[in-house]
Amino acid sequence: MRIVKTKDYDEMSRKAANIFFAQIVLKPDSVLGLATGSSVLGLYENLTASFKCGDLDFSEVKTVNLDEYAGLDGKNDQSYRFYMDGNLFSKVNIKKENTNLPDGLAKDMAAECARYNSLIESFGGVDIQLLGIGHNGHIGFNEPDCCFIKGTHVVDLSVSTIKANARFFADEKDVPSQAYTMGIQNIMQAKRIVLCVSGSQKAKILREALFGDVTPQVPGSVLQLHPDLIVVADEEALGGSDWV
Ligand code: F6R
Repeated sequence: MRIVKTKDYDEMSRKAANIFFAQIVLKPDSVLGLATGSSVLGLYENLTASFKCGDLDFSEVKTVNLDEYAGLDGKNDQSYRFYMDGNLFSKVNIKKENTNLPDGLAKDMAAECARYNSLIESFGGVDIQLLGIGHNGHIGFNEPDCCFIKGTHVVDLSVSTIKANARFFADEKDVPSQAYTMGIQNIMQAKRIVLCVSGSQKAKILREALFGDVTPQVPGSVLQLHPDLIVVADEEALGGSDWV
């Protein structure tokens, strides 16, 4: 594991974006595993800026997102498809058909999970996976559980995740109760993982995930076992930094 410590959110976003920048320059047809949420927004802004000034070309890039709410149409402004279209895909020259998320409206949820697993496999796996971490240690929507679930699956969201995500919805009761997520094996099979973490409210869980026991009760703790994990985190998330 490598830890890149940054002064603040902006520096975290720039440094994490630089890793993706290098990935795309060195392998223009990279398969990027992407995430949504606040932690990665600044990274998308940086990648968009690099595209706009002519330094990045997304024309051969393929993407697979970690997760999507079940029951939301991609046009719903709370869907992760909407987030990705608005914050990255519509701003760079990626081909829409090369961007992939689970289909929130799929009728047959089991078939949708199987389709997503096969899709990732057909790409030959993910070259670089972007992650944030939830307050309860979730990665993707892999919530604390009694075991690690391998493949793409449907989860019942925990109360704490629904509460954390309610900030994006008009009302907490509008937050979907289920979501699709890549499983732990899908995530761990990525060749490289970049975990972005910012803010003091994440300090406790980050420390637990990186240095505590590897347990499905803290799903992010499994990342300790990945051979190429890069944690890009700001001083606040690193909790005053006596431990790095
Ligand atoms: C989003 C995702 C989640 C977030 C996590 C942190 O696609 O997979 O695991 O990365 O909930 O969210 P933020 O960055 O909003 O604190």
